[in-house]
Amino acid sequence: MLSTPRLTPESYKRLVESARNDPEAFWLRESRRLEWSALPIVAVDTGEGWFADGRLNASVNCLDRHLTARGDQTAIIWQGEEDSNVLRLTYRELHARVCALANILRESGVKRGDRVAIHLPAVVEGIIAMQACARIGAMHIVLFGGFSAEAIADRLADSGAVVVITANVGRRGAKRIPFKTTMDAAIALRGETSTVRRVLVVEVTDDAVPLTEGRDALLTPLLETASTTCEPEAMNATDPLFLLYTSGSTGKPKGIVHGTGGYLTWASYTHELIFNHQQGDVFWCTADIGWITGHTYVSYGPLANGATLLVFEGMPSHPTPGRWWDVIQKHGVTTFYTSPTAIRALMSEGNDIPAAYDLSSLRVLGSVGEPINHEAWTWFHDVIGAGRCELVDTWWQTETGGAMISLVPYAVEPRPASATLPLPGVNPVLLDEKGTPLEGAVEGILCIDGSWPGRALTIWNDDTLFQTTYLRPYPGHYFTGDGARRDADGYYWITGRVDDVINVSGHRIGSAEIEDAISEIHDISESSAVGVPHDIKGQGLVVYIVPHEGLSEEQTSGLKDQVVRTIASKVGRYAVPEAVYVVPDLPKTRSGKNVRRLMRKIAYGETQGFGDLSTLANPGIVDDLIRIVGKA
Ligand code: PRX
Repeated sequence: MLSTPRLTPESYKRLVESARNDPEAFWLRESRRLEWSALPIVAVDTGEGWFADGRLNASVNCLDRHLTARGDQTAIIWQGEEDSNVLRLTYRELHARVCALANILRESGVKRGDRVAIHLPAVVEGIIAMQACARIGAMHIVLFGGFSAEAIADRLADSGAVVVITANVGRRGAKRIPFKTTMDAAIALRGETSTVRRVLVVEVTDDAVPLTEGRDALLTPLLETASTTCEPEAMNATDPLFLLYTSGSTGKPKGIVHGTGGYLTWASYTHELIFNHQQGDVFWCTADIGWITGHTYVSYGPLANGATLLVFEGMPSHPTPGRWWDVIQKHGVTTFYTSPTAIRALMSEGNDIPAAYDLSSLRVLGSVGEPINHEAWTWFHDVIGAGRCELVDTWWQTETGGAMISLVPYAVEPRPASATLPLPGVNPVLLDEKGTPLEGAVEGILCIDGSWPGRALTIWNDDTLFQTTYLRPYPGHYFTGDGARRDADGYYWITGRVDDVINVSGHRIGSAEIEDAISEIHDISESSAVGVPHDIKGQGLVVYIVPHEGLSEEQTSGLKDQVVRTIASKVGRYAVPEAVYVVPDLPKTRSGKNVRRLMRKIAYGETQGFGDLSTLANPGIVDDLIRIVGKA
């Protein structure tokens, strides 16, 4: 069954034109999709922020305003790993749970503007906690479940979080993932200087966990007595809604700050447009809430639009290879949004697996997080979508708040592996290295002209870094860090990062972050982390290390393991490299800069075609690297 198109090619063109001709009127009109306690009368950011004179509350927009028309509609279907483990919450029930937790947060001393960290597995409490923070005007910092204690400690310290919401454990089959003890370790790392005053624990299972007297509390008994009504804070449109840490070229992950009115308008606008959202849809975005996709397209966009969300706690292929397809069939999922890495992994299991399931409920498929290759696009479209579903490849970033370049179903003609066209109101440009805009069919550095409502406000504690990272490299444009190709019809193909960010399975990892972690290993004098193409993950992480002189063979041979352990403990297991090469030196320019381009090519197995090596200070190292990589 086809869904009713929200836009036709003609109405889409009209939308593009009206956004171009009168952005102020266009965005003011789009802001009316939200409920405001003070309606904004200015839209475009001219220095004060988007919708600067408006006031609203994000959780009122995601919950309260739906209660009259759809209080009894399912807001969340939660499917646990075990098939019988299902929870359905209506908008009314979700509202009550959010209010109860918001009251507990207030009783815990959380005030407007405070920071609350959330570290949870894929249980409904993650969404409830985000909404509860939004209700009382506290900024949430959702921490990815795979972060190590040290990575958590850094983020708690940078944000100054006063309260943490975590779980006793996460579950993966019979295995238990120690959320609470990881959090305890993270807080202990900062000792007396920790800002965390209270730890609230969701009991996901019956597993007991140690509680620190005076600091920790189990949530269940508190929720039983908490009031289910809670007065929302009226926030300024430009007040921060949340911080989310992401990796860039600099060593430390940066806390990207998103505002309330602009971000929520963008989340709602893009969710409706790119997924052709309509009543009755069952929307499943497989992202973890620890990433921006889980913020915009699990929590804020779908709930702002009154959708029914599916949240799944398990893995794609566990306990059986077709588990995701089974979930789609069981819950009649209409809209399915996932990553190219997942698509490639599922594709490698063969077509018989999805063929055993009825996937006819699907109407719109989506891909995000990394470039999708032609083969994966075609498989997703033809096999999962049976050739009849719209497939949206959505390009965006933590900093953009929501989708920027994406197909709009039924309105834009698809082209396999292309993110297609900018959404109405988005003005991408391709620049050359000097910052000159390039016209027509060309490849260049992807920037965005002007602003858009979803753009991040700043970097927490470091507005200068925000300016120098995004706004100063190419004055007048927002610098994305990505490269792209544009064809003669204006379609975009994202070619990947042009900076030192590596995208492994859609997870952003900064080279500098890895090199920083390795620098703590005493016996290593220098290291370099590079990304190489990987069949499933898109990119794999490879590390070169240079040991100090005079180490014994035994000391040197232990270094690889040490690197893996150090990255796992300082960053997280998700950033553990595919390979570690012990090398005598790194290729360097005469001015002492590491030549990553060469290291990338050699790590990928190339042995020639490196171009002019005469600019290197140590050209002889190239053969050494080829030999070492070739032997590994
Ligand atoms: O390189 C681009 C890639 O992911 C980066 C943003 O990562 P993050 O902030 O973690 O957000 C991921 C989810 C939006 C981008 O700079 N990227 C994201 N989506 C795509 C993509 N590359 C190609 N095609 C996409 N659809």
